[in-house]
Amino acid sequence: MKDCINILAIETSCDDTSVAILKNQKVLSNVVSSQKIHEIYGGVVPELASREHDRLIVPVMKKALKDSGLKLSEIDAVAYTRGPGLLGSLLVGTSFAKSLAFSLDIPLIEVNHMQAHILSIFIDDNPEKPNYPFIALTVSGGHTQLVLVKGVNDFIELGTTLDDAAGEAFDKSGKIMNLSYPAGPKIDKLASTGDIHKFKFPKPKVDGLNFSFSGLKTNFKNFLIKQPSGFINKNLKDLCASLQFTIIDILMDKIILAREMYSINSFVICGGVSANSFLRKKLKDLEIKENIKTFVPKINYSTDNAAMIGISGYFKFLESDFGKFSDYSVSKYNL
Ligand code: KG4
Ligand code: ZN
Repeated sequence: MKDCINILAIETSCDDTSVAILKNQKVLSNVVSSQKIHEIYGGVVPELASREHDRLIVPVMKKALKDSGLKLSEIDAVAYTRGPGLLGSLLVGTSFAKSLAFSLDIPLIEVNHMQAHILSIFIDDNPEKPNYPFIALTVSGGHTQLVLVKGVNDFIELGTTLDDAAGEAFDKSGKIMNLSYPAGPKIDKLASTGDIHKFKFPKPKVDGLNFSFSGLKTNFKNFLIKQPSGFINKNLKDLCASLQFTIIDILMDKIILAREMYSINSFVICGGVSANSFLRKKLKDLEIKENIKTFVPKINYSTDNAAMIGISGYFKFLESDFGKFSDYSVSKYNL
């Protein structure tokens, strides 16, 4: 096998069109085009997302190649997100990846989006990398999961959300406060100067390592309905801070419980919500007060991006021989 493997990776599972080029574990380029079109609708419109991927995939790939300094003929394999995600969006990435691999006569490697979020921590320029085993908390717009990771290909789900994801709790509560989609980063910013104790919202009682966020959202909505007009604007920063405090506290409680249940002190926190600045601050507290070591990928690798697909593809490439790569007839879904 060659010493250096160049992987072109494609991510189109939701509303980010992204192509990255990796040389082994090093990212040469990682171009992400976040679709703005959904902002006015307060959430991702699946049909529009597919059309945007279709429009953007070629220019995004051209830019990724240019930034990497490589030519298409130097690519050794194409990795792509097979799922989970929006069907139409996945279909665009899948079709593009298959065609590209077929035309270049190189292997095609399917990647699970959630596993890719976790493996993003192994990208070269992350400051610190964990040893196995560790527990991963994946917190994104579509998922909230705790996963025991024993090896690069050994994932066991320990808990998941019973309803909304943590990112959805941010986005849907933000929508109630008239913040445009995605509201998570806006709430993060507004909360930085708000009072976390101004309003108190109840935390759900969910046994074990599962999560629930829809009750919090309903509670938040019911609380706001009862308030006089102008209340949201007047209290926006404090509302954001108090809401964010509750969401992050729910996550912290489960990290501590997972540590107790599995006696593992090493946690990787990934997915879009891991970009949250209050969460990152609370993780530092966990290290100091609870002796829990946390690893968080760099922000560009936290939200959806193709570099995380590339690193996962690279590990799969190392583990496979040519006979074991994805068949060009692989379907876009049903992982
Ligand atoms: O991983 P991701 O980019 O896409 C999915 O796979 O869903 O995560 C997107 C989610 C959105 O819900 C967004 O509001 C949330 O991550 N998010 C944040 C922050 N940045 C992104 N939530 C809270 N604070 C942030 N700074
Ligand atoms: Zn994601």
